[in-house]
Amino acid sequence: MSENTPEIRKGLYGVVVDETAVSKVVPETNSLTYRGYPVQELARYCSFEEVAYLLWNGELPTQEELIRFSAREKALRHLDRHLIDLIMSMPLSCHPMDVLRTAISFIGAQDPEAYTKNSEHIRRTALELMAKIPTIIALDIRRRRGEGYIQPSRKKGFAENFLWMVFGEEEGSPANSRADIEAFDKSLILYAEHSFNASTFTARVITSTMSDTYSAVVGAIGALKGPLHGGANEAVMHNFIEVGDPAKTEEWTLNKLKNKELVMGFGHRVYKNGDSRVPTMEAAFRELAKEHGQEQWVEMYEIMAKTMYDNTSIKIQPNLDFPTGPAYHILGFDIEFFTPIFVMSRITGWTAHIVEQNENNSLIRPLSAYNGEAQRSVPPKQF
Ligand SMILES: CC(C)(COP(=O)(O)OP(=O)(O)OC[C@H]1O[C@@H](n2cnc3c(N)ncnc32)[C@H](O)[C@@H]1OP(=O)(O)O)[C@@H](O)C(=O)NCCC(=O)NCCS
Repeated sequence: MSENTPEIRKGLYGVVVDETAVSKVVPETNSLTYRGYPVQELARYCSFEEVAYLLWNGELPTQEELIRFSAREKALRHLDRHLIDLIMSMPLSCHPMDVLRTAISFIGAQDPEAYTKNSEHIRRTALELMAKIPTIIALDIRRRRGEGYIQPSRKKGFAENFLWMVFGEEEGSPANSRADIEAFDKSLILYAEHSFNASTFTARVITSTMSDTYSAVVGAIGALKGPLHGGANEAVMHNFIEVGDPAKTEEWTLNKLKNKELVMGFGHRVYKNGDSRVPTMEAAFRELAKEHGQEQWVEMYEIMAKTMYDNTSIKIQPNLDFPTGPAYHILGFDIEFFTPIFVMSRITGWTAHIVEQNENNSLIRPLSAYNGEAQRSVPPKQF
């Protein structure tokens, strides 16, 4: 490599751009920790609310801190009339991620202190977004189904309240059973944070220009929407439905590989020997399938995973989106809402990174190697 031919790491492959204390991914040992705690243990012993607190404050809450934190979150869940009207006016043809992006932009426009660099204020904004995003998504789900708005509850936990606002059923009913709430809560914990992924990095880039938190979150939503990132969980379920039958799954997967097409829900930029979050989500998905009598998805899941592993030279394995796609389908969510639901969770990781970037900022501005025309002069006008 000479001075004039700089090394290009396309897609920033393998480039370490900064330090972070929010989470650590160690692909070699297949481990992911949030603030030092293994994500599997957090999913097993904690609620999503505790994990949000941990990501923002660096420590798990005491019981008292958790009660105060949850009470503040519950009090912020409601939407004002203007925001409800805005959501109701959005075209039904647009993707729900567009609705979410627009709604958050609107909330930002209503905040006169949006441009603060005060970390406490940013954490308050983060809590407000965490509280309101589920309400925005639930309203959008219901208006598309021709159903009325259900007000958020101030009594229910985060996951339970979302199922309540979407399905209108109290805890214990088929669409809001304890098992459903727990499986959904686990998925939120697993989706909450993943170091410098594309959407988090987008949020950090926007923050590095000293822009505001809402702009950073809106940009992150745009990055997450793409099928190579958050949109993969939707694509996974479309594939399951397209295949439709365990007996056809192997042939379908082999055809994809033969045609050099991507099979969504497989592979990962960082994990090359399996995604550390998959075993926890896979177990939750199996439980859900059993409880809801939908084990055909598990059969297809197993065949697809085995076919990919056995027929790729690098033994490609599932990523988190692979078990989450069918799990969300069993829970009763419409496919186009899988990625907005990812936002419900990842808002916590994004905003933890926004605070971190802001507290130790340096403008993120990489260089590029020019490969266009050599310098030339504008020709004399011929017309
Ligand atoms: C996530 C992803 C973008 C990572 O990309 P990456 O780090 O650039 O992947 P790699 O370049 O290491 O892939 C190595 C090889 O495996 C293939 N491969 C990777 N993921 C694949 C998949 N899901 N289906 C089929 N082949 C795949 C690549 O095409 C490449 O083949 P090649 O060497 O013949 O070109 C990629 O795996 C992908 O597109 N997966 C599907 C989308 C998805 O599930 N995204 C969610 C991520 S959490």
